[in-house]
Amino acid sequence: MKRILVTGGAGFIGSNFIHYILKNHVDLEALVNLDLLTYAGNLENLHDIESNPKYYFVKGDVRDRNLLETLFDEYDFDTIVHFAAESHVDRSIETPELFLTTNIVGTQILLDAAKQHWKIDNKDKYSREYRKGVRYLQVSTDEVYGALGATGMFTEKTALSPNSPYSASKAGADLLVNAYHETYGMPVNITRCSNNYGPYQFPEKLIPLMIYNAYNNKTLPVYGDGTQIRDWLHVSDHCAAITTVLESGTVGEVYNIGGNNEKANIEIVRLILNVLGKSESLIEHVKDRPGHDRRYAIDNTKITTELQWQPAYTFEDGIRETIQWYLNHNEWLERVTSGKYQKYYHDMYDRASEKNNG
Ligand code: NAD
Ligand code: TYD
Repeated sequence: MKRILVTGGAGFIGSNFIHYILKNHVDLEALVNLDLLTYAGNLENLHDIESNPKYYFVKGDVRDRNLLETLFDEYDFDTIVHFAAESHVDRSIETPELFLTTNIVGTQILLDAAKQHWKIDNKDKYSREYRKGVRYLQVSTDEVYGALGATGMFTEKTALSPNSPYSASKAGADLLVNAYHETYGMPVNITRCSNNYGPYQFPEKLIPLMIYNAYNNKTLPVYGDGTQIRDWLHVSDHCAAITTVLESGTVGEVYNIGGNNEKANIEIVRLILNVLGKSESLIEHVKDRPGHDRRYAIDNTKITTELQWQPAYTFEDGIRETIQWYLNHNEWLERVTSGKYQKYYHDMYDRASEKNNG
């Protein structure tokens, strides 16, 4: 892992991953962050490392084949970590098509560009030989497995059974990654992680949204009765797990990532109110999300036993630290929710390219 392409590195997990890798990987020669800077991408998340000589930012779309070819020629990547995606279930219910093009077509174009660059004899369709040491890692989600009842856990062998347009698009992408491995011999891994929490998460997702609203004395919209269960993992544990898979995962394998941390949504909402010293009267039970998955739970036996990865955070420590982070970064939250940073990007990039194009 010397020259790495990170897609979606201005988002929540991608920006945490870039921090993690730059801190922990001294051997790295170059890290390119390719991000379209949608509403969810925020370069402010990377402000502290932008002058690192190994770090390069490129504003662009994973669906742009020509751009990918140029980047491969310029940086000669040996590793790809593909985070870029539309990631919010509620938005996928409103605009499913965007999720299909970004998450499925984007993955296929990226896989194809990597194959083109990494395969030793591109003209021979039967050849399965790739350059030594190259690896493509698809960052996927436990949501591709669908919903659980009161018992059971998702293993890597659980059949894919996605229920939302978001999870269906992520499952479609996973199937393509597997197809590139089976058909063309591409050296790939897929990681399927449970819900993440931590710094830099866009405040449309449960935990930062509830912190923001509670802090500002706004109501906390809990879908339905709030007894739906998610399995929470601190984002830095997710980043460490991805790195472990890149370093020692077996080619072609899927690894589930989770920290055995099942919590009902209402429990989390109450905990946030409690830590912030706010009243539970701020809770408002609103109409449930259509097709809402009741429960997710990851069986992490494979990654913990085969690759010896373990989460470092307990939920109790992680959530308190995270709440404190959002309190300390209130201005970040304000800027993100006001959309000011998007205007800044428009001024900085889009107007510049309009000018360049005459
Ligand atoms: P996010 O929405 O915070 O960030 C997504 C990033 O991708 C943004 O920076 C956005 O600008 C960029 N992007 C979107 N479309 C793009 C395109 N066409 N080309 C280039 N960049 C584009 O998402 P996140 O929560 O950081 O999730 C990252 C990945 O991890 C996703 O693939 C998601 O499915 C997966 N995942 C997320 C969670 C979670 O709890 N957040 C859990 C498991 C897996
Ligand atoms: P979310 O953070 O959107 O992640 P995902 O749907 O991918 O698991 O939601 C986490 C849980 O919180 C999910 O069960 C939906 C619920 N939720 C609410 O009750 N209210 C909200 O405003 C949001 C955003 C989520």
